[in-house]
Amino acid sequence: MQAAQTLTLEDLTSFCIRKGFFFPSGRIYGGLRGFYDYGPLGTELRKEVLDDWWYFFVRRRVDVVGIHGCIITHPKTWEASGHVEAFFDYLVTCTKCGKEYRADHLLEDYGIKVPTLNAETISSLIKEKGVRCPECGGTLGEPAPFNLMFSTYIGPKRTKSNEAYLRPETAQLIFLNFKDVYFSMGMKLPFGIAQIGEVFRNEISPRGFLFRLREFTQMEIEYFINPRKLDDCPTFDEVAQMKVKLLPAETQEAGSEETITTTLQEAWGKGFIKSKWHAYWIGESLKWLGRIGINLEKVRVREHVKSELAHYAIQTFDIEYYFPFMGWKEIEGISNRGDYDLKRHQEFSGKSMAVEDDGEVVIPHVIEPSFGLERILLALIVDAYKVARGHAILSLNPRVAPVKVAVFPIVDKPEFVKKAKTIYANLKKHFTAMYEEKGTIGRRYYDADEVGVPFAVTVDGRSLEDDTVTVRFRDTKEQIRIPVSELVPTLKRLMEQDKETLEAGA
Ligand code: GAP
Repeated sequence: MQAAQTLTLEDLTSFCIRKGFFFPSGRIYGGLRGFYDYGPLGTELRKEVLDDWWYFFVRRRVDVVGIHGCIITHPKTWEASGHVEAFFDYLVTCTKCGKEYRADHLLEDYGIKVPTLNAETISSLIKEKGVRCPECGGTLGEPAPFNLMFSTYIGPKRTKSNEAYLRPETAQLIFLNFKDVYFSMGMKLPFGIAQIGEVFRNEISPRGFLFRLREFTQMEIEYFINPRKLDDCPTFDEVAQMKVKLLPAETQEAGSEETITTTLQEAWGKGFIKSKWHAYWIGESLKWLGRIGINLEKVRVREHVKSELAHYAIQTFDIEYYFPFMGWKEIEGISNRGDYDLKRHQEFSGKSMAVEDDGEVVIPHVIEPSFGLERILLALIVDAYKVARGHAILSLNPRVAPVKVAVFPIVDKPEFVKKAKTIYANLKKHFTAMYEEKGTIGRRYYDADEVGVPFAVTVDGRSLEDDTVTVRFRDTKEQIRIPVSELVPTLKRLMEQDKETLEAGA
C-alpha cells in the first residue's frame, strides 16, 4: 500500500479487508453492493469511536440525553417528515441494456456539473452533452425520481396498509420521542437528544468502499432551542476563537471553491452562519473530530447552496474531509432544521409539540449535527496511514486504536512464552490486547504497527531475571523498561497523557 498522498481506493479497500477491519457482506456469495460487515479490528475501532462520541456529546454534558429508537418505524413518520415525497435521487435507465444509474453521479463521471437537481436540467444535460450508457453505449431514458427508503411489511399480510419503512435517518425517532423525553426527564430548553444507530438507504449506486453504503450508522443530535433565543448561546465562548476553513454558499454560487479562514465568532458575526447555536455545534463537532485524531487541516466547512438544501433545512453546513482518492467529501452534516419536523409531526399526529420556556409556549427550532460513522472511520484510517522506512504504520490515536497493546516473547522458547502469556492474560483484563510468538521480533513490531497498536510489550532475557519488560512506542519506536507490576498503571497513564495532549490541542 502507498503513502497517504497517493493512496488509492483499491489499496485502502484491500488493506482494510486483509487486516480484518471490514469485509464485503456475503463475500462467499459474491458480496452485496453497498453492504460491509465489520471484522474483528473494525468492530473494536467502531466501538471506541462510538463510545467516545457518546462520552463527548452525551455523558459529559448536562444538556444532552440519549435515546435508542426502533429501526422499523411507524409509516406515518415518513409522510410527516417529507421523506415519502422528497427523499429521492434521479434514476436514468439505459433503453438498450437496462442498466440503471444515479443521474447526477453519471453526469459527474463525465465531468458535467449539475447546477440544479431537477428532471428537466438532468434531461437536457444528458441530451446536450450526448451522454450514453457507459456499459453498452445505448441511449438513456428520461430521469425518474427514485425513493431511497427501504420498505418492509409488518405482520403476515403483504399489503400497502402493512407497509413500513426502515429508518433512513435516526433523527425522526428523536422527533417522535421529543415530548416524552421532555416530560420524563424534566428537560428545559435548550437541550439535546442524541442517538446512535443503523440507518438504511436504497442508494442507486453505492460506491467508494465505506463512503456510500446502503446500511450505515449515524450519530445524531437534535438540539432544541427557543426560536427567539437562537443567538443566546451561553457556551459559545468555548468555540468562538476556533478557526475554520469556510466555503460559503455565495462563493460557490459565484463559481469559486476558495475557502476563507475565519473564527466561528467572525463567521457568525458577519452573517455567514445564521444562528450562534449553529456556529457552536460546528465548533463542537470539529473539536470531537480533532480529538479522535482527524487532521483538521484536511477539513473544511462547506455551506449548502440553495439548490442542494434538503426539504427541511434553513441552512446546512457539511463538514468535508479531503480524501486523496475522491477529493472533498461530506463526513458530517450540520443543519438548521428550524421547526419543520416538530410542526409536521404536530400536524400529522394532532399532538401538540409545543413546550414551555420562561412562561412562553413555543415549538422549538432545531440544530442537528449528523455524523456518518463509516465515513469518519474511512477518514480516520486514511489520515492515520503512513509509510516510514518501507513499513506501513497506522498512527491511530490510542483513544480509538482497536488494539491498545501487543505482547511478544522475544523468542518462542517455553520460559519466554510462559511469562509473556501470563502478562498478556493480565493485560487483556484492562485493554484490548494481542499476542504473537512466531517470526522475528522486528516483523512482529511491524505487523502491530500496521494495524495501529500504540504500545508493544516485549519479554526478553532480562525479564526472566528481574521481572521487567520493555514497552515500545509505535510512532517513535522508542522503548522504556519497566517492572511488570507497573505495566497496567504505566500503560493507563501513557494513554491518559496522550488524551490530555490531544484535548489541549482540540
Ligand atoms: N438527519 C440528517 C441526515 O441524515 P445526511 O446528510 O443525509 O443527513 C448524515 O446524512 C451523514 O450520514 C452524512 O454526513 C454522512 O456522513 C452519512 N451518510 C449519508 N448517506 C450515507 C451513505 N449512503 N453511506 C454512508 N454514509 C452516509
